[in-house]
Amino acid sequence: MKIGDFKMFKITVYSVREVEIPLFEKLNKDNFELNLVSEHLSIKNVAKAEGSDAVLVSGGDDTGKDVLEKIASYGIKLVYTRSVGVDRYDFAAANELGIKVANVPNYSPRSVAELAFILGMTLFRHVAPATYNTHMGDFRILPEYFANEIHDATVGIIGAGNIGTAEAKLYKALGAKTLAFQRHPDSSNDAVEFVDMDTLLKKSDIVSIHVPYIPGKTDNLVGAPELAKMKSSAILVNTARGPVVDNEAVAQAVRDFKIGGYGTDVLLDEQHVMDKQFDTLDDVPNQIDKDLMKNYPNVIVTPHMGFFTVPAVTDMISTSFENFKSTIKTGKPIYPVER
Ligand code: COI
Repeated sequence: MKIGDFKMFKITVYSVREVEIPLFEKLNKDNFELNLVSEHLSIKNVAKAEGSDAVLVSGGDDTGKDVLEKIASYGIKLVYTRSVGVDRYDFAAANELGIKVANVPNYSPRSVAELAFILGMTLFRHVAPATYNTHMGDFRILPEYFANEIHDATVGIIGAGNIGTAEAKLYKALGAKTLAFQRHPDSSNDAVEFVDMDTLLKKSDIVSIHVPYIPGKTDNLVGAPELAKMKSSAILVNTARGPVVDNEAVAQAVRDFKIGGYGTDVLLDEQHVMDKQFDTLDDVPNQIDKDLMKNYPNVIVTPHMGFFTVPAVTDMISTSFENFKSTIKTGKPIYPVER
């Protein structure tokens, strides 16, 4: 195939939002044939990929065994994602079917870092309960709004990779002390001071999690024992994946005032809520997610939108194209994921 013209290479892309279409068009410099599908990939719409050379998914797509088997039955061997997370892939099935996986590990880390920072600061300064109350007509300055200032605070980052480090830099710029826990600390990272997990939990006013979700390995990384070590005023922030915290334990800790609040962009049972609109919170299918959210405004939830910025989505699309180009030229994507 002539480099610079991939017209003959058809990619079916799932989970394409309206605002992303112009970016797909603009960034398609190599003229891939694109089949843009707005829905999340599922067994119901996998047939839309038939006749393609490759599939490009995102974090909300079903890449479980049944779906991968269908894709393989169409002769497609490349199922790449434009997300960093690959937790929805059934790697055993992918390996058995000879399906290659690639991801985009380093799209604008500030997209998620900024959202984590905002969730943390919103709860740290009690903005969520205060705005909730003013909207209910209550303009009193309640004692529970009495706050510290961030330059006098300590922020603990669990997982100081690209995103965790970007968040640490935001807090450091405001004068906060930044601690981090990492299994294999990078001594060249001067945005944080590496400490053990217990020290981080005990000393931090805001704890922010940035670890990948690896089913069976990073489930409930922050659960009841960890929450018990945190300050009763401390804020927990999760922009990684729902299952990396014990959501029931977090809800209980917030209810019992064992921690100050929980700000999250991710839920436990995300595939049943992502991009859906329910009439009321009671219609959210997962009981644990529902119980957690009932603690609003001490629990605040955004709909997994950390990635949803122009720079991040631009990176996600352009790096995905690079992954395909590299595969066509060399047989390997730039960012293969093997498990
Ligand atoms: C990821 O990149 O892993 C994300 O969490 C964002 C994705 C849902 C688009």
